Amino acid sequence: MAVTDDVTLAALLAQHDYAGAATHLRQVMDSGRRDAAIRFRLVDVLVAGGRGAEAAAELMSLADQYDAAGQAAKAIALLKRAEIVAADPFESSRRLDALVLRSVSPAPHSELAAEGAPTAAPRALRRPLLAGLTGEELLALVRGLRLHAFQPGDIVFAEGEPGRSLFVVASGSVKVFVRDPSGHPVLLRELLEGTFFGEIALLTGAPRSATVTAATRTELLELDRATLDAIAATHPRVGEVIRDTAKARSGSEAETRARAGEPGRS
Ligand code: CMP
Repeated sequence: MAVTDDVTLAALLAQHDYAGAATHLRQVMDSGRRDAAIRFRLVDVLVAGGRGAEAAAELMSLADQYDAAGQAAKAIALLKRAEIVAADPFESSRRLDALVLRSVSPAPHSELAAEGAPTAAPRALRRPLLAGLTGEELLALVRGLRLHAFQPGDIVFAEGEPGRSLFVVASGSVKVFVRDPSGHPVLLRELLEGTFFGEIALLTGAPRSATVTAATRTELLELDRATLDAIAATHPRVGEVIRDTAKARSGSEAETRARAGEPGRS
């Protein structure tokens, strides 16, 4: 039964009985249902009931699971969320550091990744923003990120707006649109987990060169200019990687084609 169909849970939530709802969800999990959807639901209920430490523990356990499956950016997002909801964020910070450092060591890929999961942990985390960074550089960057959640179709920002931050896709995906000569939006690119966007306005101070929307439920990690400057001062490679990507994307052939009204590839 889907969690949303669960009448008992709905009734408990309608009465704001978060303790009862948490107990109910744990009973459902004890009976064998331990998929991510029900565990995320439990996290929401625990947070609503003011039980941040338990919610953080659940998020950290989910993060371990995603990390083992090769979804490192998603694992980072979960650990960031654990830091936010935890009464004592020490444990989630420690795990976050361990995850980031593990991603730069040449550890063997998980079985799932070997069987053809889209990306192995090290590559997912390092592509392309983090490619070439040392463990310490990676750690400095990840610590400076802020987490945001979007629903499908939500606009992250619109072409022409001012913007002073860049975003890493932690989970889900986003679509990048530019306008054709008649003003209609044309899809330029779909950007998947592990990629980043928003670096052009961040670096140049120019308005956003494209509109970006969430293609799915999406979590983004935001890095603002002040944080980037602080990191780049001690870790120049972070700035270099971002500048190289901005250069490659600005006025690219794909963008020229899209602005002329030809749809792009994802
Ligand atoms: P920015 O101009 O800040 O906001 C729009 C973003 O869309 C831009 O930064 C890039 O991150 C992204 N973008 C622009 N052109 C491309 C492209 N050719 N491929 C992928 N992303 C792009």
